[in-house]
Amino acid sequence: MGVDSTSSDAKPVTAMRIVMLGPPGSGKGTQAEILAESLGVPAISTGEMLREAVAAASTLGLRVNEIMAAGELVDDETMAAVVRDRLARDDAQKGFVLDGYPRTMSQATTLKEILDRSGRRLDAVVQIDVPEGELVSRVLGRQRADDTEEVILQRLAVYHEQTEPLVAHFGERSLLRDVDGHQSIEDVSTSIRDALVGEG
Ligand code: AP5
Repeated sequence: MGVDSTSSDAKPVTAMRIVMLGPPGSGKGTQAEILAESLGVPAISTGEMLREAVAAASTLGLRVNEIMAAGELVDDETMAAVVRDRLARDDAQKGFVLDGYPRTMSQATTLKEILDRSGRRLDAVVQIDVPEGELVSRVLGRQRADDTEEVILQRLAVYHEQTEPLVAHFGERSLLRDVDGHQSIEDVSTSIRDALVGEG
């Protein structure tokens, strides 16, 4: 059972295998780090893993560099290998907060297969809602290579086309927890905690 140590009088969050879902700039990465730390599990960001590969100029990094710079998705097969390896590591056995995966229906199927094979299951999918204008201004306020206006608009288009269908998919499986992401970082964290209490 997970023990959330952020507040001694708050009810504990027992969900330990969590996916963060939301458009670019919604705060998935920010909130994944906060939640993962409070649960004592790793925050696993596929975007961050790919950026590290690009920075290291590894075989993977050289392959995905242009795709990421254009705001497109890396292919499902490559992502399956990345996530399968990461979730097999010791620190992910107790739980994880997955940020940026799955992003397509095929990736959702792959994640279920990876977890099924090791006798694990997802506890919850947190969807962070933020108005589109706010997303763009947040992302443009940052200095990442894929944060130009043209690329952010492409990342949003890709999100709507390929990732948004996962909202209904996880909703049908009763895993979806909606959170208002248009609040301060602290208030979003509290809303996520509240949405997760009793899960897992
Ligand atoms: P990825 O790194 O996952 O990028 P993203 O989904 O576009 O998300 P961002 O990192 O831009 O936003 P976020 O929602 O994490 O928000 P954050 O907390 O950073 O992926 C990058 C690329 O990698 C993809 O485009 C693709 O090419 C590839 N990729 C990754 N995973 C893949 C997959 N599964 N399949 C295929 N390809 C994949 O916050 C954003 C900003 O807002 C920050 O400056 C933050 O400080 C600020 N902020 C956060 N919360 C708040 C708040 N409440 N109020 C005000 N500001 C806030």
